[in-house]
Amino acid sequence: MAKVLVPYYSAYGHIYEMAKAVAKGAEEVEGTEVKLVKIPEFDVVKQAMSSQDAYVQAQDNQDDVAEATHDDLRWAEGIAWGIPTRYGSMPAQMKQFLDSAGGLWANGELEGKATSIFTSTGSVHGGQETTIITSLIPMLHFGMIFVGLPYGENPEQLTTDGIGGSPYGASTISGPDGSASPDERDFVMAKRLGARLAKVAHKLNQ
Ligand SMILES: Cc1cc2nc3c(=O)[nH]c(=O)nc-3n(C[C@H](O)[C@H](O)[C@H](O)COP(=O)(O)O)c2cc1C
Repeated sequence: MAKVLVPYYSAYGHIYEMAKAVAKGAEEVEGTEVKLVKIPEFDVVKQAMSSQDAYVQAQDNQDDVAEATHDDLRWAEGIAWGIPTRYGSMPAQMKQFLDSAGGLWANGELEGKATSIFTSTGSVHGGQETTIITSLIPMLHFGMIFVGLPYGENPEQLTTDGIGGSPYGASTISGPDGSASPDERDFVMAKRLGARLAKVAHKLNQ
């Protein structure tokens, strides 16, 4: 039995779609309990983006998803973070949430838990690897054990096509105007990442 948490931030819905696929992949591993939660949005961003239809629609679609709490992090034995790219690294909303978890860091409460990261960018070379690698740094400070996506299990990433997927984690490309949807192969890789994380969390629990 393992408990997997999928906390994500998604302004325009691409990471939300990927998060659901990661959660599904984890759920398919027998004996796994999965919780999907969203990182709280800033009020200032809600106000600033209230005239953007794509943002408002994507937020409405996530209305039913509960906001992530520190107790969710305590509950989880594996955590798959959904982190879209902002200037090649994580959004401030995600950083704020991680910074607010300093008490858990101080008590070593996340040490030994399995963790994975999935991301999205607007463009092919917009920073998928940099977002995952730089987001890994705080996870290592928390003492978490990183779970990536090896080539052997994830052959779709060996491609020259403009899709997501790397040994660091699953990913997708939203397009410069956000109009692209995740490729089916992005969902396959996201599910696989969720399953791999769940299996590692199970093993660490034994
Ligand atoms: C402030 C800001 C900075 C961004 N920086 C990048 C970037 O460095 N590289 C890139 O490819 N896309 C960048 N994007 C596009 C986002 O990564 C893209 O909108 C996001 O991955 C879509 O995921 P979502 O639909 O879950 O919000 C940026 C978007 C915003 C709003």
